[in-house]
Amino acid sequence: MKFTTPAGTNPIDQGKIVGKPTPRIEGPLKTTGTARYAYEHRDIVTNPAYGYVVGSAIAKGRITGIDLRDAKAAPGVLAIVTADNAGKLGKGSFNTANLLGGPDIEHYHQAVALVVAETFEQARAAAALVRVDYAREKAAYDLAASVDSAVKAGGNNAKVGDFDGAFAASPVQFDQKYTTPDHAHAMMEPHASIAAWNGDKLQLWTSNQMIAWGQGDVAKTLGIPKENVRLISPFIGGGFGGKLFVRADAILAALGAKAVGRAVKVALPRPLMFNNTTHRPATIQRIRIGTGQDGRISAIAHEEWCGDLPGGGGENSVAQTRLLYAGANRLIGQKLAVLNLPEANAMRAPGEAPGMMALEIAMDEMAEKLGLDPIEFRALNDTQVDPEKPERPFSQRRLIECMRTGADRFGWAERNARPGQVRDGRWLVGIGMAAAFRNNINMKSAARVRLGANGVVTVETDMTDIGTGTYTIVAQTAAEMMGVPLDKVVVKLGDSSFPISAGSGGQWGANSATAGVYAACVKLREAVAQKLGFNSDDAVFAGGKVRAGKRSVPLADAAKTGEIVAEDVMEYGDLGRKFQQSTFGAHFVEVGVDAATAEIRIRRMLAVCAAGRILNPVSARSQVIGAMTMGAGAALMEELAVDKRFGFFVNHDLAGYEVPVHADIPHQEVIFLDETDPTTSPMKAKGVGELGICGVGAAVANAIYNATGVRVRDYPVTLDKLL
Ligand code: MOS
Repeated sequence: MKFTTPAGTNPIDQGKIVGKPTPRIEGPLKTTGTARYAYEHRDIVTNPAYGYVVGSAIAKGRITGIDLRDAKAAPGVLAIVTADNAGKLGKGSFNTANLLGGPDIEHYHQAVALVVAETFEQARAAAALVRVDYAREKAAYDLAASVDSAVKAGGNNAKVGDFDGAFAASPVQFDQKYTTPDHAHAMMEPHASIAAWNGDKLQLWTSNQMIAWGQGDVAKTLGIPKENVRLISPFIGGGFGGKLFVRADAILAALGAKAVGRAVKVALPRPLMFNNTTHRPATIQRIRIGTGQDGRISAIAHEEWCGDLPGGGGENSVAQTRLLYAGANRLIGQKLAVLNLPEANAMRAPGEAPGMMALEIAMDEMAEKLGLDPIEFRALNDTQVDPEKPERPFSQRRLIECMRTGADRFGWAERNARPGQVRDGRWLVGIGMAAAFRNNINMKSAARVRLGANGVVTVETDMTDIGTGTYTIVAQTAAEMMGVPLDKVVVKLGDSSFPISAGSGGQWGANSATAGVYAACVKLREAVAQKLGFNSDDAVFAGGKVRAGKRSVPLADAAKTGEIVAEDVMEYGDLGRKFQQSTFGAHFVEVGVDAATAEIRIRRMLAVCAAGRILNPVSARSQVIGAMTMGAGAALMEELAVDKRFGFFVNHDLAGYEVPVHADIPHQEVIFLDETDPTTSPMKAKGVGELGICGVGAAVANAIYNATGVRVRDYPVTLDKLL
């Protein structure tokens, strides 16, 4: 089905099931430990061997020799895979470095060997006996020291009007630098895979957000046809972008299984994950804003410096500034230096999140400079069109309404704009806000639906559930379309033998994947109507029946003589050129800062979101409060410490890499504006998960400034920076 905009009225608009707060149908499986994650398919894979990954001890250079004798002689060892015996490997389209290193080493903890043994403990013990000699090369690990070598890169270099001239002529000028550190995904479930070969066919149970990309990259890396690879990933214990792509666990499990002729399980040990996989790279950002005395922006510039391995793409933190505020003269630029740290890649709103962490402090600073309320300054510079292409409107943009709704709810009017004035016992109290802004992306997505003689509708799509509740919104969609209750729908996800979906990434999953299910259900409705002798245009599907006029027939009757199967894909064409689809919001935060120790506590958090139809307010709220929590982490805690001599992340486990825990997070409130956006898909929905993280960090930093009068522009905002 080709989507033509705007979507007309359709069965989803009934809102009997879609849009209703719906507890997760897959929740009991997850909370009782019966959902099978990648490493856990023990009921399917019997007698597997265990692989343990050896990571490189240097960041850049060459392996000069590997001595495997002691490791091979260790108890239980079945095989050791290295670049010497793995055969020729390709590189996946989404990988920057090779997943098996040697003789060249591209980054610290790049895999150099997989030891396969009868038990996990034997594999781990033998891995410690692998002796690798290296010749280390000089390399670059320090972003700040590498900015002069950075060159223009990325997709966000734009000039509109005359920024330099307009900035110089602006009565009020602002120019500041902000820095964000390297971040790790640090999801709960590690990267893990089980591989089993049947002749030349490979089956991989793995933890992967994008099944079709993964299938393609496994095939490409191993040099086998895509049809010979089956990826299965029904549940994912968090991905955050780190599992958008195939990693070493999958490839090494496949190579290990080939070597020993039996199934092999590989999980990346936690201390290996931070340097073996990908991370969000550090950024240096410069923001300049020029306004009139009235606060109207005439010139705005956002430039970024970042680092990545050769061939990598770095971060993309300037993209949102292209669209968020008005201003006739604009400059957007990205520069990328070669850094020999582990490869950078997508993490939790890649680009948007760290970009908004800088831009939305800058807006707070500029508002203060102008003597304007931060909300009024933003509202004054709102734009309903793409500021670079005024003929291109936003499909919907209710940023101002989000800010005003939040201001009312949060008690913004009582805020003292002068910092450091409000005390509550030993706490200095401040409140801050920031705009939230993340684009909506439509991805082609397919599904297959089956109607059985028992009236059960089964949905099959390779869409994934990364903890988001995909099973539930897919079931809601099919139930609404086919007029059956939720318990008459079975959802099967995460298998490359199913039709190719949008996958989970970039907050495109919910709207795109359910639109694919919608398309398949339209076909199923047509097939059912035909079978039962209805005209599909006036057949109504409700209450487990199909009716038109006075005639009503049980839906299940259509499948009496055999299951009815329908499959379709929702496609979008060049929708994005006509208008800009984005999601908007506003974050409000209250903090307390201990007047003596500078301990920072978040006291209240509120997010107001405008993101099209909210398919399930319960799971959408979970998305947003999770994202707000990640935003709090980015503001106050998360930071990979770079060893600038040897080129690795020092705090490579969950003890050293700090993320928020329950005690760090107060009650969080989320408000969704009531809206539908008919330009996005027949679902009229948008993504909401990544919107929830964009802006939070700046709202926290702005609240800390309001509490203390100390402006920190170097994340994370830790107490030492306030003293
Ligand atoms: Mo997300 S960082 O696009 O999985």
